[in-house]
Amino acid sequence: MGRLEDRVVVVTGAGRGIGKEIALLCASEGAKVVVNDLGGATDGTGSTHIADEVAEEIRAAGGEAAANTDSVADVAGGEAILQTAVDAFGGADVLVNNAGILRDKTIFNMEEADWDAVLAVHLKGHYCCSRPFARYIREHNRTGARIINFSSVSGLFGNFGQANYGAAKAGIAGFSRVLALELAKYGCTVNTISPGALTRMTIPLRENRGETVEQDDLDSGGPQHIAPIVAWLASEASAGITAEIFHTGRGGVAIMQQPRIIKQFRKSKGVWTLDELDQIVPQLIEAKQANVAAADESGVAVTV
Ligand SMILES: NC(=O)c1ccc[n+]([C@@H]2O[C@H](COP(=O)([O-])OP(=O)(O)OC[C@H]3O[C@@H](n4cnc5c(N)ncnc54)[C@H](O)[C@@H]3O)[C@@H](O)[C@H]2O)c1
Repeated sequence: MGRLEDRVVVVTGAGRGIGKEIALLCASEGAKVVVNDLGGATDGTGSTHIADEVAEEIRAAGGEAAANTDSVADVAGGEAILQTAVDAFGGADVLVNNAGILRDKTIFNMEEADWDAVLAVHLKGHYCCSRPFARYIREHNRTGARIINFSSVSGLFGNFGQANYGAAKAGIAGFSRVLALELAKYGCTVNTISPGALTRMTIPLRENRGETVEQDDLDSGGPQHIAPIVAWLASEASAGITAEIFHTGRGGVAIMQQPRIIKQFRKSKGVWTLDELDQIVPQLIEAKQANVAAADESGVAVTV
């Protein structure tokens, strides 16, 4: 018996890359899967019916799947994606907000359209799909529900040339922390993935550096390495784990720090003077550096 037997899993952007691997693994674990994908180019333009192909692949392997080609970037699309799950499988238990696009440019050259398109698919896309799902589980007392969101080191650490994408991905981490609080009383967990995988999104970055991507690289660093932690989070085994960020890829699985106050000073009376801050701020920076060093040390991978 699979880990996701009788669960309905909705995966956005599941026509290729990471989302496709999640859809295939969840289906092989017994889930009924809604394969959503607009099927556009990496920059979000155009559309094709790749969602149908993945749904067909799942059915050919003996699984259950329904395809949906709506865009996550508008409210009607988010509602239609949930409706596909309701029509095909009578409900939904898990929402994986994975769909994404890229329009990399430095701030000097970033046009309004580049900013808007990336924020619309990633950040607004998470809202558009999560709201109908949250309403659905509340109205139907659906227990054990899960939302799994997709952030990125681009937003969590910062990455040159991705102000739009980084802003959206950092926003998704904040969105997830709030949703985890709001949905806790309905037993729905909300966790975030920070993936690293060779897909059409990242392979060109390698190629632009003059590196080639061989089958060996795809075996060790392909999107199939992201799917297991997502399927595990989708399962009942993850009950009670919420508001976490898991970094994963290339055989690694890690948990990330969340923002916390590391050190603070409080003035017993009055307002800080700038001369006092000359003394205080270096101590804050030192505490922060020690915290980073401790995290770097504990974050070294343990091979199992
Ligand atoms: N690949 C990585 O290393 C990496 C790193 C960090 C974050 N991510 C994130 O992981 C997720 C998956 O990325 P990937 O590498 O598999 O990319 P990908 O381009 O291979 O797949 C993304 C899919 O989303 C679909 N999509 C785009 N806009 C859509 C829309 N409006 N509605 C529905 N579907 C839409 C695309 O058609 C595509 O099939 C994205 O959110 C991405 O930002 C990936």
